[in-house]
Amino acid sequence: MALRNIMLDSDPILRKKSKPVETFDENLWQLLDDLYDTMLKNDGSGIAAPQVGILRRAVIVEINGMKLELINPEVVDSKGSWERVEGCLSVINRTGHVKRPYEITVNAFDRFGHPYTLKVVDWLSRAILHEMDHLNGVLFTDIMSKECVKQTKKA
Ligand code: CO
Repeated sequence: MALRNIMLDSDPILRKKSKPVETFDENLWQLLDDLYDTMLKNDGSGIAAPQVGILRRAVIVEINGMKLELINPEVVDSKGSWERVEGCLSVINRTGHVKRPYEITVNAFDRFGHPYTLKVVDWLSRAILHEMDHLNGVLFTDIMSKECVKQTKKA
């Protein structure tokens, strides 16, 4: 198990556009395994390669026990709209309301370079879209409709 450091939102690398993965080799598999370990260690439900400083188009999501690796993902169709509160491993102690499509169809590659198409809804769809934003240098704080204000309990 190898943990990598998570870049925080003040880091300019999170604002860069990631390049497509071209080689589906041991380096990619190591990156994916490290991403997954790092995500779990930080109680995340998704992570993107640029969050550990690697500007390549690779993301992992895991929602309700469904783990997906998406390399060079492209959204080819989307339907509906819903708004929910999101957070991010790179944005400490902030959450906000984000509107996204409810259902998406995504083309991606698995870690061996095999293409696949996936139609997903609800939080799985939301998680994939959130992680794909990272590949384009976008954070949820850029697109949130409003930030959640932390309530301070007073005795
Ligand atoms: Co994030």
